[in-house]
Amino acid sequence: MYPLLKKILFRLDPETAHHLALGSLQAFQPLLPLLAPVLRVSDPRLEKTVFGLKFPNPIGLAAGLDKKGQLPLAWERVGFGFAELGTFTAKAQEGNPKPRIFRYPEQQALINKMGFPNPGAYEVSQNLKELKEKGFWPSIPIGINIGKSKVTPLEKAVEDYLESADYLKPYADYFAVNVSSPNTPGLRQLQEAKPLKKLLTALVREVKGKPVLLKLAPDLEDKPLKEAADVALSAGCAGLIVTNTTLSRQGLPKGHYPEGGLSGAVLRSKATQVLKSVSKFTKGKVPLVAVGGIFTAEDVREKMDSGASLVQVYTGYIYEGPTLPARLCRALLKDLP
Ligand SMILES: Cc1cc2nc3c(=O)[nH]c(=O)nc-3n(C[C@H](O)[C@H](O)[C@H](O)COP(=O)(O)O)c2cc1C
Repeated sequence: MYPLLKKILFRLDPETAHHLALGSLQAFQPLLPLLAPVLRVSDPRLEKTVFGLKFPNPIGLAAGLDKKGQLPLAWERVGFGFAELGTFTAKAQEGNPKPRIFRYPEQQALINKMGFPNPGAYEVSQNLKELKEKGFWPSIPIGINIGKSKVTPLEKAVEDYLESADYLKPYADYFAVNVSSPNTPGLRQLQEAKPLKKLLTALVREVKGKPVLLKLAPDLEDKPLKEAADVALSAGCAGLIVTNTTLSRQGLPKGHYPEGGLSGAVLRSKATQVLKSVSKFTKGKVPLVAVGGIFTAEDVREKMDSGASLVQVYTGYIYEGPTLPARLCRALLKDLP
């Protein structure tokens, strides 16, 4: 069924297809339990407790797909073991001009330069409150991914992140701190030791016991990568997410490409290399969440063998379709006693 749907969706501009797919998911949300035998795999062998939270399976939705935090319950109903909503910023913003998502089907890749379009943390908190009050809330862990508003200068970044965290705290099982998107000018400078320490220490204090995870870029060399990981540990982060999209165009044929972050199959091995380095630096002191180029159970195993406790998918979900979490879970079960 998805190959046919994909043919139609892939004829549309990627962002239009994205809105259409999310709109349909929202409309059909009440019917999703009927599809549970296809979409969901429940098995105690898949369950994991990581940074104090219980995950029904280790396959998560990566940040950036549910940018308004519209569908927390639907992500559970389509089989994810956890979902990360956002990136949200303190101020509502439009993001970069369109077009801002580009497909490269032969390479199973995407380039995006979205720039965090979102309704702003306060508005999102009101929407999430309503969903919770109406009972449209999942039992899977929900991550809230926060970033810096474009108009906020870097020197005021801490206040900006704290404002988002404050509004969204009641809806977060964990927070993901995004300092690694390539699409907000200057954002990646917050990965440097001094500003990073200030930001993470303030956030860990603000969210009082909720796990705070740092999401890293795959474009850091080993030295700044180790520094960032060390800072995250000393600031009290509960884990690291490895990785965001890359500025590299490796894996794509020679040519001119739009600015933005590259994701998908061509990112996989680079993200795994960075995961291995982070795993070496952190020596098992905190759990790692792996993301980047996961399409198959082999890819999940590669990440787990490289130090990940949990994984997330984005581009693979677009290319492989809604049964991907269930397929990955079934394949993982084959390996388990
Ligand atoms: C269109 C698009 C939008 C994204 N938006 C965000 C975002 O808002 N925040 C974030 O932390 N990561 C964002 N990401 C990065 C993904 O969460 C993920 O880290 C990256 O795409 C690598 O995983 P993948 O190869 O499975 O896509 C985005 C990725 C894509 C393709």
